[in-house]
Amino acid sequence: MRKIRISSQHRLFLLLSVNLSLSLSLCLCRMMQRWHKKRTHFPLLAALIFFVFIVCSILYNERSIQQIHQNLDHHVDDSLKKTSVPESTTVPPNYSLPVVLDRFSTCRSTVKYSGRKAGKIVHRPELGHQRGIEESCDFFSGKWVFDNTSHPLYNESDCPYMSDQLACHKHGRPDLGYQYWRWQPRNCNLKRWNVTEMWEKLRGKRLMFVGDSLNRGQWISMICLLQSIIPADKRSISPNAALTVFRAEEYNATVEFLWAPLLVESNSDDPVNHRLDERIMRPDSVLKHASQWEQADILVFNTYLWWRQGPVKLLWSSETNGICEEIDGLGGMELAMEAWASWVASNVNPLKKRVFFVTTSPTHLWSREWEPRSEGNCYNEKTLIIDEAYWGSGSDLPTMRMVEKVLSNLSSKVSVINITQLTEYRKDGHPSIYRKFWETLSPEQLSNPASYSDCIHWCLPGVPDVWNELLFQFL
Ligand SMILES: *[C@@H]1O[C@H](CO)[C@@H](O)[C@H](O)[C@H]1NC(C)=O
Ligand SMILES: *[C@@H]1O[C@H](CO)[C@@H](O)[C@H](O)[C@H]1NC(C)=O
Ligand SMILES: *[C@@H]1O[C@H](CO)[C@@H](O)[C@H](O)[C@H]1NC(C)=O
Ligand SMILES: *[C@@H]1O[C@H](CO)[C@@H](O)[C@H](O)[C@H]1NC(C)=O
Ligand SMILES: *[C@@H]1O[C@H](CO)[C@@H](O)[C@H](O)[C@H]1NC(C)=O
Ligand SMILES: *[C@@H]1O[C@H](CO)[C@@H](O)[C@H](O)[C@H]1NC(C)=O
Ligand SMILES: *[C@@H]1O[C@H](CO)[C@@H](O)[C@H](O)[C@H]1NC(C)=O
Repeated sequence: MRKIRISSQHRLFLLLSVNLSLSLSLCLCRMMQRWHKKRTHFPLLAALIFFVFIVCSILYNERSIQQIHQNLDHHVDDSLKKTSVPESTTVPPNYSLPVVLDRFSTCRSTVKYSGRKAGKIVHRPELGHQRGIEESCDFFSGKWVFDNTSHPLYNESDCPYMSDQLACHKHGRPDLGYQYWRWQPRNCNLKRWNVTEMWEKLRGKRLMFVGDSLNRGQWISMICLLQSIIPADKRSISPNAALTVFRAEEYNATVEFLWAPLLVESNSDDPVNHRLDERIMRPDSVLKHASQWEQADILVFNTYLWWRQGPVKLLWSSETNGICEEIDGLGGMELAMEAWASWVASNVNPLKKRVFFVTTSPTHLWSREWEPRSEGNCYNEKTLIIDEAYWGSGSDLPTMRMVEKVLSNLSSKVSVINITQLTEYRKDGHPSIYRKFWETLSPEQLSNPASYSDCIHWCLPGVPDVWNELLFQFL
């Protein structure tokens, strides 16, 4: 296998996705490369890919839910570039629109964004108060308090569903300080986490997290928090797929995760094998995912980082010639948020369904932002940022304003879990080098740990547990 070239932007991509196992990815990767060269053998190869997938899944079923990450895209795309296949030969001569976008979807050509909008948002006047979140107290402003008696809320090794990307202690992190912090709002107290009470709230219900790998981290945190009081034979988890379901029999309840990094339909909807460098989305198709989440009783959404990787392509459902429009990430995210918002506005009855939106999870990619003239990132960071006003460049303000604007019309239906400011302080909480990496690290990388640190995701136990304590507060 060719050595992988990893630019910093590609590295961000790598970190954004997750994986079942290196071997699975490599199998799949080889298959995909062959597939690209021999399109005509698709049915045979598809069967083969499926077979290999099953075998790999069995071989690498690490007993727990494992996530799916790989840079497959770069192998494939690099090989295409190297053999300089002209664009036209990669597109069937009689282009016909695929029914569903997948990683092989292509644009026949790309034009500038026309300014077109998807559906209309239902502009109903908002009556009443924002649900759940007491106006008397802002739970999101306050400070972190070192408290090694109340936290961590579970032990890393006690959670059978822990992900190898997030199990920092297991992967060699020597300092455990990041586990011992609780969040203290300025003018009030958070409810103490009570696992029995949480299960009572979930009895007979479906709780579903929908979004990207950050939201998946919060979901893993949630099932780690919840599983301790359920006997092993009374809980189960479905095989890893776009929708993964944790089930607790005696409560007749599920805690689920749906991979939908752009919220609307896109060519990145396969959690195993998604395409990152050319993101194509259908801004008018939220229903593909909504059909999976519409039956859930409690929904927790996020989306952000996938919109921060440059322009995205729009393929409207009515477009039959494969002509995409290109739009900048923020514009694309706004279209997706509007499509999502219009679904919420017309489908959510707040008396029956709770909907939460989790704001931007900050990154800590440049230590100069909290320590001028330094040149690192989150690697080796063991302390918290104490400047209350600290705001890193990774948390894009125009995006925050857009999200706030879209959510403002939904305040009776959607509760915001505004984690951004409180999470900004936690430069100590990222895995950095203490996680499983799927790509082979070169000697140069190994000699410079900061160069391959993950400063995007969060160690568990850790910061996402506190996001879940906030969710518990508002449920
Ligand atoms: C596309 O072209 C192939 C052969 O070139 C033909 O068999 C197929 O029917 C065509 N499909 C459509 C939708 O025209
Ligand atoms: C908690 O932290 C204090 C101060 O660092 C330390 O003395 C104590 O041993 C710790 N307790 C536990 C249970 O880790
Ligand atoms: C974690 O493990 C330690 C030692 O094994 C134990 O003292 C502690 O109570 C455990 N914490 C939780 C939350 O289970
Ligand atoms: C946790 O919640 C349960 C059920 O609501 C309650 O009976 C129990 O006393 C609570 N435990 C604590 C420590 O508050
Ligand atoms: C379990 O919960 C589902 C809703 O999630 C409900 O339809 C079903 O009737 C419940 N079953 C029992 C035995 O309570
Ligand atoms: C979240 O809080 C920040 C300030 O900490 C604010 O700028 C932002 O608008 C808030 N976002 C939403 C969606 O309320
Ligand atoms: C919110 O609703 C108002 C009218 O109630 C409308 O003018 C505005 O465009 C809506 N904003 C968004 C972001 O949908």
